Amino acid sequence: MIAPLIRQASVDDVDLLCRLGAATFRETYRAISDPREVDDYADEHFARDKVLAWFRKPCARTLIACLRGEPVGYAHVRSAKVPACVADRKAVELSRLYLLASAQGTGLGGALLDAAIDEIAALGGATVWLGAYDRNAKALAFYARRGFVRAGTHEFEFGGQIHHDPVLTRPVALDGKTATIIRASQDIPEMPR
Ligand SMILES: CC(C)(COP(=O)(O)OP(=O)(O)OC[C@H]1O[C@@H](n2cnc3c(N)ncnc32)[C@H](O)[C@@H]1OP(=O)(O)O)[C@@H](O)C(=O)NCCC(=O)NCCS
Repeated sequence: MIAPLIRQASVDDVDLLCRLGAATFRETYRAISDPREVDDYADEHFARDKVLAWFRKPCARTLIACLRGEPVGYAHVRSAKVPACVADRKAVELSRLYLLASAQGTGLGGALLDAAIDEIAALGGATVWLGAYDRNAKALAFYARRGFVRAGTHEFEFGGQIHHDPVLTRPVALDGKTATIIRASQDIPEMPR
């Protein structure tokens, strides 16, 4: 097997990220949400100006994952407004983690998550947070196996409505190491109080 490559994205990758962002978003959500609303969201949020703006923020990083030289996924992390349910007010958001369906189930998703968490550590974050769609069972199980717990919900606008999406958090370092895979329940456990 040819080893996958995960690299830092630059402004030269904007067009690629627009295509990859829209394609992976459509693949992920068209089957579990209203396809027209998914297309509208993808058209708006993966437009060139929106993706270009990712590179204008100092506290943000984007990674691209390639298999056999072909880009098949990406991750984006950023310092953004932290939801009220997250105790660490300096937590950094894992804003996007997406692979094409053809590249899933190969271990690349886990490797990309590890690399994204390393970027969060480099930005000075001690906690990762993310918002997930509650019908995205595959992603929720993936995050639960990797040590994320449910902290609460946050508001997410989609299809002209406000949704209350689960917010998941995890320390950057687990047992003194980053990105230890936890093989546990498929469910997202509640945050210990
Ligand atoms: C969520 C997502 C990034 C996870 O990626 P993935 O490719 O499914 O994840 P991995 O392949 O790393 O892990 C899944 C399983 O593949 C298996 N696997 C198969 N081949 C493997 C290999 N060569 N090495 C390691 N694991 C392998 C593992 O058993 C792993 O199971 P585990 O989680 O119990 O360890 C991916 O499913 C995805 O992009 N989904 C659509 C977008 C999405 O929903 N993003 C999240 C939005 S919040």
